[in-house]
Amino acid sequence: MENKNTFKVDENLKHIAFIMDGNGRWAKARGMERPEGHKEGVKVFERVANTCFDFGLEAVTFYAFSTENWKRPPAEIKTIMGLLSMYLDKCGDSLIKREVRFRVIGDKAGLDKSLRNKIEKLENESKQFGKTLNVAINYGGRDEIVYACKKLVNEGKEINKENLSLALYTEDCVEPDMIIRTAGERRLSNFLLWQSSYSELYFTDVLWPDFTDEDLILAINDFYSRRRRYGGL
Ligand code: IPE
Ligand code: IPE
Ligand code: MG
Repeated sequence: MENKNTFKVDENLKHIAFIMDGNGRWAKARGMERPEGHKEGVKVFERVANTCFDFGLEAVTFYAFSTENWKRPPAEIKTIMGLLSMYLDKCGDSLIKREVRFRVIGDKAGLDKSLRNKIEKLENESKQFGKTLNVAINYGGRDEIVYACKKLVNEGKEINKENLSLALYTEDCVEPDMIIRTAGERRLSNFLLWQSSYSELYFTDVLWPDFTDEDLILAINDFYSRRRRYGGL
């Protein structure tokens, strides 16, 4: 195993997107309630984001809350939103120090006003930076495509692939080279439907709260063993 202090990616791997799954199962397996799994999950999110930038990635995206997750019990939703809000309080300054652009992808209008204000403040304060941290909150890939189409129509722009890509929540962000999903499920669950057309998909049974930097290196090495053909030969 490579030394994680010196491990680096190259120009073939610019963006990794994570479907952080398995927080609930992690807690249940320990006889704890689901919120404990989400608490642990946020710590892992914070660490993995930093590790990705240390490894030299340009962009990282984390799926934190889907448009379908509103089906969960209100108390669980409240816990998740509270944790996201605490994350912003705790990590905003360090993202700015690290020169990372923070962006929420998803329908922010559906979020609590105080959370939305915190998000927008950090988005504004960090918008000049080159590295990108996208956090998907109230995000749905289908909603995003509909949103982008409506935006183009309202602006009187032609609907073509280039314009549509730029009208998505992710705007000019490079598309994900790899999508990593933890906790054994092998599906996208409405994540980055447009942007994942040629992403390499990596699935691991490790539950998100157990996901280590070594697990990340395993995934990256797997990525480098693949040959991306994009339909060519
Ligand atoms: C992922 O963990 C976090 C969110 C979807 C918010 P889950 O909460 O889905 O955990 P499991 O899949 O029930 O174990
Ligand atoms: C996907 O996980 C959403 C996030 C990780 C935020 P889910 O746990 O909601 O997905 P399903 O229900 O297993 O498809
Ligand atoms: Mg799940």
